[in-house]
Amino acid sequence: MSTFNTHGTALITGASSGIGATYADRLAKRGFDLLLVARDQARLETLATELRANHGVKVEVLKADLTNAQDVSAVEQRLRDDASITLLLNNAGVASNTALAEADLGEVDRLIQLNIVALTHLASAGAAGFLARGRGAIVNIASVVPMIPERFNAVYAASKAYVLSLTQSLNAEIGEKGVQVQAVMPGATRTEIWDRAGMDLNALPPEMVMDVNEMVDAALAGFDQKELVTIPSLSNAADWDAFINARLALGPNLSLQHAAARYKTSGA
Ligand SMILES: NC(=O)c1ccc[n+]([C@@H]2O[C@H](COP(=O)([O-])OP(=O)(O)OC[C@H]3O[C@@H](n4cnc5c(N)ncnc54)[C@H](OP(=O)(O)O)[C@@H]3O)[C@@H](O)[C@H]2O)c1
Repeated sequence: MSTFNTHGTALITGASSGIGATYADRLAKRGFDLLLVARDQARLETLATELRANHGVKVEVLKADLTNAQDVSAVEQRLRDDASITLLLNNAGVASNTALAEADLGEVDRLIQLNIVALTHLASAGAAGFLARGRGAIVNIASVVPMIPERFNAVYAASKAYVLSLTQSLNAEIGEKGVQVQAVMPGATRTEIWDRAGMDLNALPPEMVMDVNEMVDAALAGFDQKELVTIPSLSNAADWDAFINARLALGPNLSLQHAAARYKTSGA
């Protein structure tokens, strides 16, 4: 009997809780084998046992601290070499609640390592592997905070703006070459990230907070519709299109030989 799984294997970072663990359940239900990555091995093993029992798929656990360069490089290697991997879910992330001027810069660096550096390395290795194998998908978990950076922690908001921008550029590079790319921009979603960052989710109006199951199901619906960007709570997709069109309208004036008339004032 062949053990070849036509869906292939989904590699999920940050699979031990919240959004990653929920994706793991949904992707297993769809028939994907799974490679679950996070630091908490015991938690990953418990989840893996449950998923094997519930969905009959193969589940492997890979313990990795994605702020550690060696651990990131081990995951990169799997993405390049393991031909069974067809989907990368770049999900692991941390938030922060400290203003930049008061920040512990060690903590800032760890956030950047995880939310930006590791995500970039894995996206690159995933893109290389998928292009070489002629199929695959990369889903990057961003956030809606790049739309409202004034209301959030500077480094977290900027890290998620990076994820959105990276995804848009990556799609331009490989989207037409058989690799599907998606950025998911969740709003406030009930997971542990809030507690971990010392923030009280219950301080938000309940109508602003989505259940993690609903969030992930919506993100997967967006994936099925081949959306490049999915904002689970945005009811009118035309609002996003209008935002993109406003950005594109700036295009003809973003790089010209001469400065705009209003800047020719210094007399220098
Ligand atoms: N919840 C929200 O409101 C919300 C909104 C927008 C975007 N997001 C984004 O969604 C993603 C998932 O977050 P979540 O809400 O599901 O939070 P979560 O429940 O705290 O999950 C975060 C995951 O990342 C893993 N992780 C943390 N540090 C890691 C490290 N150094 N190395 C490897 N894995 C690490 C954690 O596992 P271990 O502790 O076992 O390592 C955990 O599995 C994040 O990128 C977050 O920015 C969340």
